[in-house]
Order: sequence, then structure tokens, then C-alpha cells
Amino acid sequence: MNTSTGSKHRIVVGVTGGIAAYKAVQLVRLLVKDGHEVHVVPTEDALRFVGAPTWEAISRHPVTTSVHDDVAQVRHVALGQQADLVVVAPATANTLAKMAAGLSGDLLGTTLLATAAPVLVAPAMHTEMWLHAATQANIATLRARGVHLIGPDSGQLTGQDSGPGRMSEPEAIHAEVGRLLAARRDLAGVRIVVSAGGTREPIDPVRFIGNRSSGRQGVAIARAAAERGADVTLVAAHVDEGVLAEVPAHIRMAHAGTAAELGARMTELAPEADVVIMTAAVADYRVANAAEHKLAKEDGAPTIELVENADILAGLVAARRPGQLIAGFAAEMPTETETVIERGVRKRRRKGADLLAVNEVGWQAGFERPDNAVAIIGPDDSVVAEARGSKREVADALLDAVLRLRG
Ligand code: CTP
Repeated sequence: MNTSTGSKHRIVVGVTGGIAAYKAVQLVRLLVKDGHEVHVVPTEDALRFVGAPTWEAISRHPVTTSVHDDVAQVRHVALGQQADLVVVAPATANTLAKMAAGLSGDLLGTTLLATAAPVLVAPAMHTEMWLHAATQANIATLRARGVHLIGPDSGQLTGQDSGPGRMSEPEAIHAEVGRLLAARRDLAGVRIVVSAGGTREPIDPVRFIGNRSSGRQGVAIARAAAERGADVTLVAAHVDEGVLAEVPAHIRMAHAGTAAELGARMTELAPEADVVIMTAAVADYRVANAAEHKLAKEDGAPTIELVENADILAGLVAARRPGQLIAGFAAEMPTETETVIERGVRKRRRKGADLLAVNEVGWQAGFERPDNAVAIIGPDDSVVAEARGSKREVADALLDAVLRLRG
């Protein structure tokens, strides 16, 4: 990734096979005019609409679709690794499906898999294709992974039809690129340690007491922070496999099974961190009499003795170094006497965290879902922010609150 702090960036423009490819010419012109280094990566199909000489002339860089050109420079991954932003315009239904599946059959595919930079897609297709459940599912997958979306606009499409499916105008895409480039480095140089997932407390070698945390929210925070320039370490308790697969390689990872292991990892890592975020769902109790051998029914119903685990968050607050900011999460249900916020306020005080993101859970809400809704309680017990939407959006809201508090 380009670490320059100036306003000139390295941008990859992926162009895929739709008639709107001709409008991407204007987008590339605008980006080049800004002084950015622009590399156009068309698909084979895109070249049927606008040829390589046009892209080379306006981007002033060589253009290829193949992973076999320029092999000595490892171009198939270098473009993605070095990019500050990748924009795919137009993005066809086929390309969105390939992106959602992680296919890498051409240079654009490998570039998208190799990049840790923000990705912006500008879909363009017929209305029926845009509204199809398959396309909508692919868009949801990409958004959950943090891909940014612009459009499509509604209006006249190729032929007689009109409706949603028109690619956004190049000027609008250009403005969105500018916004993403300006916004994303606001955590540069900040060292963040995030815990995610649920701990598992063994009962015997094959059984455990666990919880329904998928790790999605913690992973979303780690990814958002890394994208915004932070130096991130993710401490993963049990995290769903699919969620773990979305952690980019440049995020450092540590693993922890039990609450005690998670506590040990966090205690090791926290002294080097500017910000610590405890997103993990930590078991309050562990099994005191965990069996060395697998329990069998013929032994009779076991009595499981529980002992309390240390409160990791409170421990980190007690040991914190000056200037370190510590945030937690709490999943709460209202009671007859207290609202979710009142419970959150009490919990924040009890643990001493600077920020506590509180969400309401029930049997249906909160866990194992792509969306979340939280109220963030600040050091003075007021709600400093509310966020509702994808776990990525909630992650960004929490990171914004962290930044405001750091001043
Ligand atoms: N937490 C922790 N160590 C524990 C329990 C919780 O660090 N042993 C952290 C969680 O990671 C989270 C916050 O504390 O950031 C709140 O977790 P929660 O389970 O709601 O807290 P509890 O103290 O267990 O509260 P309750 O009595 O409501 O279960």
C-alpha cells in the first residue's frame, strides 16, 4: 500500500464488459487530471466495448487483461497490493458474482483478491438482472465484506427499457473516490488490538460451554480499522470459519480458546496498543471440574461446577497505560426496572471502559446476523453515538467515537 500522505494516490480502475465502459473513460480522465497514478485493468469482455489503446492513452500506463504478462514484476498481485483504492466501473452482474465468489481467472480477479485497499463498485446492468435475487445476494455479501457501492441509478438503459441499472455518472463516481481516499487514513499510525468471537470453556476433551457469537462484529472492526490506516492485531476466540476467511492477511492474528487464554493474549498485547476493543463474548464462568477423559452416559449425569472467570476488560482498564483508550461491547436485554441503556451505563462504570457499545439482544436479534444496532455510551454516561446497519457501519461508528475521544 502507498504510504504517502499527500493527495496523490495509486488507483486501479477495473472495467468490465458493459456498454457503460465508455463512461469509465471519463472517470479515468478525471482521476488522471487529479494527478493520481491510474492503472486500468479491463476484462476481456470490456475490451469489446473500449479497446486497450484508449485506456493506455488516457491512463498513460500499459494495459493488459492477462495474469501472464509482466510475470517478472508479479503484476497479477502487485497492482492490488500497491493500490490505495480499487474502483470497478462498470461492474457487471457477472463481475459482481465473480467477486462474491472470490474468482481469480483474470488480472482483475487477482488484483481484487490481492488488495487490502478500499474497493468501490459501480454496477451497471439491466433492471431485471440488478433486481435478481442472485445479484442482490452477491451485493449483500460484498457489502458485508466492506466493499463500497455507488448506484446504480435509475433511468434509460440500453434499448427501450428503463429502471434501476444505469451506472452512476463518472462525476459522481469520481467524487465518491475522493471521499473514500480522504476518509480512510484517519487512523494511520494508531495501534489497535481487537478481540472477537466467543470463548469456549471445556467440560471434557470434546464438549464445551460456548455462546452464539460469530465474531462478525469484531472482525468488522479489525477490517475497518485496518482500512482506515490503523495497525491492527485481532485476537480471535472462536470465530465462524466464513468470517475468519474474510480477515485480510495484513491483519496480525492471535488465537485464544478459553477466557483464560484470551485474557493472557490481551494482557500481553495491550501494553503496545493505543486502543483496545473487547468485542469478544467472554464466558463469565469456566468449569472447575473439567474431565480429563470424555464423559460417558454410563458414568451418570455429570455435575458441572462453575467458577468465575476474571473480567478481562476491567483488568485491562486497571492496568492501562496513560492515554490508552479502552472500549467494550455489551449485549443486553431490558428488565422490568431498567432499559438497555441504563444497564449499559452501569456496566460501563463497573468496568471502567471509556466507551461501551450496547446492543439489545433477544432470542432473534443480535447474534449470527449480518446487521447490528448499537448505542455507544461515553465516559460521561451519555450516548455519544447511535449506529444501525451492517456490522461494518457499526464498526465505523465505534471507530469514529474512538477518534473523537482521542481528540
Ligand atoms: N468481558 C471481559 N471479561 C469477562 C466478561 C466480559 O472482558 N469475563 C468484556 C466483554 O468482552 C465485553 C464486556 O466485558 O466487552 C461486556 O461483556 P458482558 O458479557 O456483557 O459483561 P459481564 O460482566 O459478563 O456482564 P453480565 O453480568 O451482564 O453477564
